[in-house]
Formats: sequence, C-alpha cells, structure tokens
Amino acid sequence: MADNKVYRASTTAPVNIAVVKYWGKRDPKLNLPTNSSISVTLSQADLRTLTTASCSASFDGDSLTLNGQASDISGARTQACFRELRARRAALEAADSSLPKLSTLPLKIVSENNFPTAAGLASSAAGFAALVRAIANLYELTDSPSELSLIARQGSGSACRSLFGGYVAWRMGDKADGTDSKADLISEASHWPNMRALILVVNAAKKDVPSTSGMQQTVATSGLFQQRISQVVPANMILMEEAIRKKDFPQFAEVTMRESNSFHACAADTYPPIFYMNDASRAAIRAVEAINAQAGKTIAAYTYDAGPNCVIYFLEEDEATVVGAFHRFLSGVSGWKASAAEAKSSVELPENIA
Ligand code: ADP
Ligand code: DP6
Ligand code: CO
Repeated sequence: MADNKVYRASTTAPVNIAVVKYWGKRDPKLNLPTNSSISVTLSQADLRTLTTASCSASFDGDSLTLNGQASDISGARTQACFRELRARRAALEAADSSLPKLSTLPLKIVSENNFPTAAGLASSAAGFAALVRAIANLYELTDSPSELSLIARQGSGSACRSLFGGYVAWRMGDKADGTDSKADLISEASHWPNMRALILVVNAAKKDVPSTSGMQQTVATSGLFQQRISQVVPANMILMEEAIRKKDFPQFAEVTMRESNSFHACAADTYPPIFYMNDASRAAIRAVEAINAQAGKTIAAYTYDAGPNCVIYFLEEDEATVVGAFHRFLSGVSGWKASAAEAKSSVELPENIA
C-alpha cells in the first residue's frame, strides 16, 4: 500500500515597503530588475502572510489556495519556485537515502494575507517569501535567507527582500543567469529601533494594472524611465544606504519621498499612462507636507507602491504628532473617510527574522 503520510510546515512572512523602488525588469523570465532597490521590513504583528505547505502521495497534483480560493499555479513564476525548491530537496535525498522522498510528491499550499491583496501593499512580497520559506521548511533545506531570496525573486521581485527583517537591499547583479541578483541585509531593525510605519488604506480593491505588467509597459514606453535607472536610482541607493547607516531621518525621508515621486512620474510617463495614486493619495501627500512644515523639520515621509494606499514612515518620538495629524486628516478628507477604520496604528519594526 502506498504511503499516504502528510508532511506539513507552516510559516509567516512580513511585508516590506520599498524606499528605493524596484520598477522594471531587464529579464522578465528570470525576473531580473533594471535597478537595485532598498526596503524596510514591517512588523508581522500587523501585516503578514501565513502559509502552510504540505506534501503527500494522497494529493491530487500541486495546488495553491489563496485567501480561501483556488489560485492558478500554472504561471512560470510559481512553477520556477516549485522547481527550484524540489531540486534542492532532491539533492538532499540523493545524498542521504534515509530521507523520505518528498521532492516527487504533490504540494498543497494554503496561504492567507491579513491585509489587502494586490492593492499596492506588497502582498506578492510577503506571499512569495512565505511560499518559499514554507516549502524550504517542509523540505528541511539548509539554504541561507540570501540563497532563498534567489528563489523568492523568481516568484515576485519584491519578495526577495521579505526573507530578511530590518533594512534590506536587493542588489540587481549583472550576471545573465541571475545568480547574483539577490537580497542582502543593510542593517538589522535594532540598528534604528525607533523607526515606525503607519499604513493608510484608502482602497482595498485589487489594482487595475498588476505590478508585473505595469513595469513592463514602463520599460517599453517611458523615456523618463531611462534617466531614472541610469542616474536617479544609483544616486538614491548611495544616499539611502548612507541615511540608514547614519540614522539620518530627514535624509531617509527626502530620498523616500523623491523615490515615490520618481516611480509615479515614470508610471505617468508610460504610454498609455498608468495612475496608481488617486485624489485621496495626493491629499495625504499634502498632509505630510503640512505636518513637516508645521514641525519646522522633516518628521514624516510618505511612500506609495503600485496602488493608492499609503505608507508613512516616522520616528517613535514623533508618533503623537504624526499619528494625531493623520487621525484628524482621515476624518476630514472624503476619500479616506470611508475606510478610516482600516487605518492601522503605528507598526513596530521587528528584529531580524532571518
Ligand atoms: P501587490 O501590490 O499586493 O504586491 P501585485 O500585483 O504585485 O500586488 O501582486 C499580487 C499577486 O501576488 C496576487 O494576485 C497573487 O497572484 C500574488 N499573491 C499575493 N499574495 C499571495 C500569497 N499569499 N501567496 C501566493 N501568491 C500571492
Ligand atoms: C512598486 O515585486 O510586485 O512595489 O516582480 O512583477 O512580482 P513582480 O513585481 P513586484 O513589484 C513591486 C513594485 C513596487 C516597488 C518595490 O516593491 O520595490
Ligand atoms: Co507586488
């Protein structure tokens, strides 16, 4: 009789929000970016993906259930993750014949995001980081977070940065096979422990233009984008790493806001144009400018990914000022009003989860 034992492992993975943005692929097949990027990993207490991976001869083929619904796994990105993880497990099994042959069994993945999916709050980042880590745990792989980031990158680029906590860089690399395009840790969260993030949800609906297709349209049609990847991003990578190293919030904030602006300018310069931000998003930008003007220094920084929802970075000592101002703002601007209840309070950054 066949062994129908079910092997299972669960894990959670955090969201990361980029402060130097990834937008553009030089190789869509291997998911290699046109530029390096930097992000801050948020606390799993607030936004996280929970994923369980199991395998058994009794399962009827590979499957993925996302937020309670069957999800398509035939895409090349999910397939690449499955293939690479299975190959690593197969190598362990080849070296030790006492190990159960899990690499050939059907995989069942069940995943849940506790925040809006496909709404510009990095669900693909937490989602694919959790998928890769859950299967790596199931297979008892010994690969480092940096090695696993090479696999997560192929699921979704931003996912490679969610294998680490704290301040994380995705180095674009220059090899054609992508083996040097992976995440590495700039600093543990404990290096700058008073960093906070406020998540503002104005619209939890799925975006019209997914990140994957949006960035490919930008690469193909935007002239501004060429200047971004050749000049703007390389300079901002240096400034951002310096700001993090020196814990210089005004510099961190200015680069973060300029990067968000630059990315959305390239989206608007795409032909036909892509608009991820809406009127409510722009009103929140004005609110941050007002908060900083009133403080007489930069104490808050906004950033938007590919969606209208907002992330505000600030320091713990300015929490009352920044969060207080946003509570007043949320009750006064119509776009945010309907979903003010969904605004999360300050999000603590975790210790390195690697
Ligand atoms: P976001 O801004 O939320 O990252 P994207 O357009 O980049 O939006 O990606 C959204 C897609 O990522 C979803 O449609 C789904 O295919 C995938 N995704 C999101 N969450 C998960 C998850 N937990 N597990 C696997 N895939 C996920
Ligand atoms: C604006 O990582 O979602 O959030 O690699 O095609 O899955 P794919 O794209 P994805 O793009 C993220 C774009 C961004 C900026 C960022 O996270 O760096
Ligand atoms: Co994404």
